[in-house]
This record gives sequence, C-alpha cells and structure tokens, in this order.
Amino acid sequence: MKNVAAIVLAAGKGTRINALTTNKVLFPLAGKPMIGYTAELLRKTGVSPIVVVVGFKGKEVMRFLGRGFVYVNQGKLLGTGHAVQKAMTKLPQETKQTLVLNGDDSAFYTPQLLKDLINLHLRSHAVMTVLSVERKDPIGYGRILRDRNGEVTGIREERDVTEKEKRIKEINTGAYCFSVSFLRKYLNNIRKNPVKGEYYLTDLAELAVKDNLDVEAVKVDDETVSLGVNSLEELKQADRLMRQKLKS
Ligand code: UD1
Ligand code: MG
Repeated sequence: MKNVAAIVLAAGKGTRINALTTNKVLFPLAGKPMIGYTAELLRKTGVSPIVVVVGFKGKEVMRFLGRGFVYVNQGKLLGTGHAVQKAMTKLPQETKQTLVLNGDDSAFYTPQLLKDLINLHLRSHAVMTVLSVERKDPIGYGRILRDRNGEVTGIREERDVTEKEKRIKEINTGAYCFSVSFLRKYLNNIRKNPVKGEYYLTDLAELAVKDNLDVEAVKVDDETVSLGVNSLEELKQADRLMRQKLKS
C-alpha cells in the first residue's frame, strides 16, 4: 500500500446522539471504544500516515488512540468536507491516494475489504471510489444516485432526498478511496449545504461527474459491513452486532 494514506473523521459533536461529555467515537462496542477497531483495522491495512481529525472532546480521542497517528484539529465543525480539507495539510507530498473513513461507522470493516477498495480504485482510474451497500432500511444514510447505465452520478444526503430518491436502497457506507490530486483541487469547490450549513464530503461525487471525472461505487452484499452510530438505538444495534461478530 505504497503512498496510500488514511483520514479518519472523528471531530463531530454527535448532535443526534446528544453525548455531551464524550465523543461518540469513544462509545464502546463490546467493551472497546469504537474508534479502537478503526485504528487497528487501518494499521493492519498498511496505510500510512493515518490522519485523525479531532474536534469535539478531541483531547480524549487523542489520549485514547495515543501515538502512531497524525492529529489535526478541525476548529469549527463545518462538516465532513471541511474535516477532510483540514486533514489534507498533514498528507506528505508523495501521498497519491487516501482512504477516508468516518469514525462512527467503521468498526466493522476488514483490512481485506479496504485493500480491495484501494485496488479497485487504482484499477478503475476513478477519482473517487465509494463503498456502498444495499440496506433493507436505508433511512438516515446518503443514497447512491446512478444513471440508466448504472454509472454513479452523485450521493444524496437523507435531508435532501426527493420522494423518489428516498426509495433508493443503495447507500454510502462512509468509506472512500480518493485520488489526492482530485481532493486538492475539488474540496474547495464544495458549497455550503443550505439545509445543514455544512460542507458535505459526499458532494464531491456530483462535482466530479459534472467535470466528466469517473466516480465508482463498489457494492458489497453484506449489510452488516458497516453501521452508522448516530443514535442510542444504533449504538445498541452496533454493540450487539460486534458481540456476535467477535463470537463467530
Ligand atoms: C455520513 C455521510 C452519509 C453516509 C453516512 C454513513 C456526509 C455528508 N454524509 O452521514 O452519506 O451514508 O455518513 O455513516 O458525509 N465529522 C467531523 N467533522 C464534522 C462533521 C462530522 O469530523 O464537521 C465526523 C463525525 O465525527 C463522524 C463522521 O464525520 O464520525 C460522519 O459525520 P456524521 O455527522 O455522523 O455524518 P452522517 O450524517 O452519519
Ligand atoms: Mg454518522
């Protein structure tokens, strides 16, 4: 995995889960803070450096993860696109590709899955490759938009979906591989979302396609490959799933 880095987004306030005293990425799954799984996973994947974007309760996150990571403080929490932009300043010149993972949904991936994602990205010459999955219940996730030929045309966030898009079951897991040159150029072009007032990383898909750049989505069959933890209910589900997975 030469010249491939990783960026982990762990700055957000977790407004929906309303955790005031700790960052949600430190919530335990089967007794271990969920970002601990992500950290181990990325070490095994062999990507470097691993840049962690911190903000809300950032000191606690850094204290837990310790050495072996590059930290960057997001400052104002202006969304996932803004968080990645902050992380870019920490990537070495020679880094050509980077994974981006959300700290709140990445505990269940495997090193092999991430290696496959990187390799597919490299082979396809896409500027952005998204890991997607079909969910029986896609509510809350960004939906993958495809045209008649099956080509990805964008990612639409839950808050912005039309009635028709709402029925799309293929969702964005929140794991991506990007070409760094693309990020350097296009992160600046993301416009603030008028509904949420944040810069959405997922807007990059549409911006790329508009300029005839290729965006790929790699669909995995297993729905349990990723579970976003945005509410206490989802935390309970994720905890249960982790206990099951560790047993088998
Ligand atoms: C995000 C994706 C959505 C995807 C889902 C999968 C965007 C805009 N949407 O939605 O398409 O289906 O994940 O779980 O990216 N964070 C920061 N700084 C910020 C905001 C967030 O570091 O300013 C971090 C959070 O700590 C979190 C991660 O980014 O770990 C994702 O943020 P969250 O607000 O949970 O995004 P979702 O709405 O779940
Ligand atoms: Mg989330």
